[in-house]
Amino acid sequence: MIASWLSSSRYAVVLTGAGMSTESGLPDFRSAKTGLWNRFNPQQLASTYALEHHREAFIEFYQYRIRTLRSCKPHEGHAILADWERSGLIKQIITQNVDGFHQQAGSQRVIELHGSLRTVHCQRCGNTLDSEVYLHNQFECDCGGFLRPSVVLFGEMLPEDAIEQAWQAAQKADLLIVLGSSLQVSPANQLPLVAKRNGAKVVIVNWEPTEFDDIADIVIHERKIGDVLRDIEREWKVGNDS
Ligand code: APR
Repeated sequence: MIASWLSSSRYAVVLTGAGMSTESGLPDFRSAKTGLWNRFNPQQLASTYALEHHREAFIEFYQYRIRTLRSCKPHEGHAILADWERSGLIKQIITQNVDGFHQQAGSQRVIELHGSLRTVHCQRCGNTLDSEVYLHNQFECDCGGFLRPSVVLFGEMLPEDAIEQAWQAAQKADLLIVLGSSLQVSPANQLPLVAKRNGAKVVIVNWEPTEFDDIADIVIHERKIGDVLRDIEREWKVGNDS
């Protein structure tokens, strides 16, 4: 069914969350045992308050996340989405993830709502560097400013242009597919509603139930995203070979 909706859609959009990257080895945030926020306190480590008042712990936490990120890579699900973009099946990916895996897998049209952990930038002059500098204990810019990860911290606004582009895509969508998000963080979690209100079909693929399941046309729980995407890919190929 989803394959046929993809084939017949005019403007299909995919919204991904951390569940898109767990099969690459990256922990998500809210899964019962492995979720980052079940092991660390985001307010003490990933917030503007931590940046200002718990600088040591902040740096240590992001060294851990950057090290973990660099030891992982996109999985087949990311590659399938990149193929779907190349064949015109999907027009836009909106991601809450900061891992850059969609781009690494070949997707070109990616809106990063929460920034990127691939870089750090100077708080004073804006100079941007590869986040690997954190693994060499470089936290200071040549200008003397502090180098911080280019991710949206708790307490910060999302990048205006990313929000604008994401809202436009969701309004244009006639099909919105959510992959691996608990949909607990706004404003990203409003995007399925925006699409629905503009007449789109909504598909939610998430291991656990989300609070937006009731507006979805199809909900798939307790199945790995990689397996679901492989099934849709197979279904689409069968439908297009005949
Ligand atoms: N297949 C299907 N679902 C999965 C898989 C998988 N392989 N792995 C995890 N999931 C599901 C989990 O059940 C969970 O409900 O993905 C969801 C991920 O939800 P969160 O951990 O809350 O991540 P996300 O929705 O992206 O969080 C949004 O919160 O802390 C902020 O900035 C952070 O971008 C993040 C935002």
